[in-house]
Amino acid sequence: MSTPRPGGIGGLPVEPPTILDVQDVTVEFPVRTARGTSHMKALKSVSLQVERGQILGLVGESGSGKSTLARVVIGLQEANEGVVTFEGQVMGRRRTTAQRRGIQMVFQDPWASLNPQLTAQQLLSELLRVHKVVPKDRVAARCAELMDMVQLPTTSLNAKPGAMSGGQRQRVAIARALALEPRLLIADEAVAALDVSVQAGIINLIADLSRDLNLTVLFIAHDLAVVRTLCQRVAVIYLGRIVEQAPTQALFATPLHPYTQALLSAVPRMDGRINPLPPPVTVITDSVGDRYRPLLPQDHPDDAPWHLLRVGASPDHLVATESLSLAEPNPARYSTG
Ligand SMILES: Nc1ncnc2c1ncn2[C@@H]1O[C@H](COP(=O)(O)OP(=O)(O)OP(=O)(O)O)[C@@H](O)[C@H]1O
Ligand SMILES: [Mg+2]
Repeated sequence: MSTPRPGGIGGLPVEPPTILDVQDVTVEFPVRTARGTSHMKALKSVSLQVERGQILGLVGESGSGKSTLARVVIGLQEANEGVVTFEGQVMGRRRTTAQRRGIQMVFQDPWASLNPQLTAQQLLSELLRVHKVVPKDRVAARCAELMDMVQLPTTSLNAKPGAMSGGQRQRVAIARALALEPRLLIADEAVAALDVSVQAGIINLIADLSRDLNLTVLFIAHDLAVVRTLCQRVAVIYLGRIVEQAPTQALFATPLHPYTQALLSAVPRMDGRINPLPPPVTVITDSVGDRYRPLLPQDHPDDAPWHLLRVGASPDHLVATESLSLAEPNPARYSTG
């Protein structure tokens, strides 16, 4: 664990605000073709910081690299380039047990992580015992506390996953994640498979947990409406690149990147595709008064330089741009037809 800085109120140590720092992470997957093996970049120089206690939404369409980034952060996927720092420690190739416990994940399908043969009590107590989270004589009481934390009655401890509703199963999956006392919870499409009313319950639960436990959450979704109510900050990922990052209110009020604008104005189409991108924006930056051309990754070579530029009224509003030597926008480049 990082050493807290001294000098807080009354001499209490102060935790540094950034709990997770992802720097320039690139992930390549081999792709077999008829002509041999080539490589596909699922993440291209992704950088992201999350503050302790914050809920950060990561939004992007299918295949944009959201789960790959989550897997890099939790240590299930090695990055080809880049560094992940958690609580001030660089996460190496082999993580310690304490490092692994600090970051937990819940998935879209809780079935995948819950043994159907075991009751909720068995599922939770197994974890508490194996990881020696509490003394043996405290295990039963801790199981009850965990159920309380996920707002399920203690009677649910006797149920097996098959006898639970989808929402209850997801709550038990969250209780299992919490059993290891993580500081960062990654929710990868954790509400995507649930009915809207059940979704709302899980979203409220995540908000309560974050507030009560000062739990940091990386909340992955493709539904912007879900992210808007829950997250303090949103990062938009497109074809393996973060194209925009801002406080939620600023992102929804003034989306700067054409892709974010398209996501926000996207009306479902019969063919399942997203609407054509709107014309590019030209923004006067607050520092130099220059114009910039927003970067669209699909027509930009992987290795060409690019930047996240601070623009707009909010100092935390970042948008991907091709170059800091700013250029006139060329509408022809942004047409997707
Ligand atoms: N193990 C792998 N081997 C090869 N390609 C992979 C592997 N994992 C992911 N990919 C590819 O990397 C890209 C990003 O995948 P990823 O699962 O991160 O997307 P995602 O944003 O989570 O999508 P979804 O919303 O569908 O879950 C995709 O093109 C995917 O096919
Ligand atoms: Mg995914």
